[in-house]
Amino acid sequence: MAAPSSPSPVRASPKVIDLLTRLHKQSIDQDPEVNATLNSAIELRKHDPTELHKHDPIESTRELNELMLDKFVALDQDKCEFLYQLVLATGAKHVVEAGTSFGVSTIYLALAISENSKEGKVIATEKEASKAARAREHWREAGEEVEKYIELREGDLLETLKSGLEKVDLLLLDIWTPLVLPTLKTVQSCLTPGAVIVADNTISSAAGYADFLSYVRDPAGPFRNLTLPYTNGLEVIVYRP
Ligand SMILES: C[S@@+](CC[C@H](N)C(=O)[O-])C[C@H]1O[C@@H](n2cnc3c(N)ncnc32)[C@H](O)[C@@H]1O
Repeated sequence: MAAPSSPSPVRASPKVIDLLTRLHKQSIDQDPEVNATLNSAIELRKHDPTELHKHDPIESTRELNELMLDKFVALDQDKCEFLYQLVLATGAKHVVEAGTSFGVSTIYLALAISENSKEGKVIATEKEASKAARAREHWREAGEEVEKYIELREGDLLETLKSGLEKVDLLLLDIWTPLVLPTLKTVQSCLTPGAVIVADNTISSAAGYADFLSYVRDPAGPFRNLTLPYTNGLEVIVYRP
């Protein structure tokens, strides 16, 4: 969505900027393969792979996890920059990232949190051990300005986020759609008033997001939401209990 000439709000060392540029390029280069893999899985089944075990978010996303094991599927760069700006604007210190993969969006979150508070951190979550290892390598390469603001919880986030969360000022939902609403419900009691929730691809994956969107759009509920016209849609929700 952002004009290519739009300046980036991100402040980081040249080393980290170069790393981010490289990782985004690697992710974009995989896009044709990601799309082909998803299309052939759907063609084979004649339906969305996540539909098979509709009522079991973990089972329904198992196949997708396997297909995406060597794929970045990173959040687009313009969305990452928006997220960074949002962390600065809200002063968020306690951030949860649902879906970490190789750790690209995590780097933006860590950089922005470090500007808000040296005590802040992003809790990253990744189920696949090999992906978690790659994410750690990238954070190590980024170094101190990033690494010390990240806590990685490996395993199924519906388990790893069940405890050990005090406050959540911002929640990024960059995870397969069957897991989105269960993740929000797992974290909801820790959301601080005014907390922001960001969910990716809410226009292109509107069908998969149906239960989540009706939950956050309930006029009697505590959420206010807005769909931003980034590529495939980006939902920004404010929690006002
Ligand atoms: C879209 S990717 C995240 C991309 C990442 N935010 C970035 O910008 O680089 C979603 C990730 O969620 C992970 N995942 C899927 N199910 C999970 C679960 N139950 N618990 C934790 N992570 C899970 C997948 O392995 C995948 O790497």
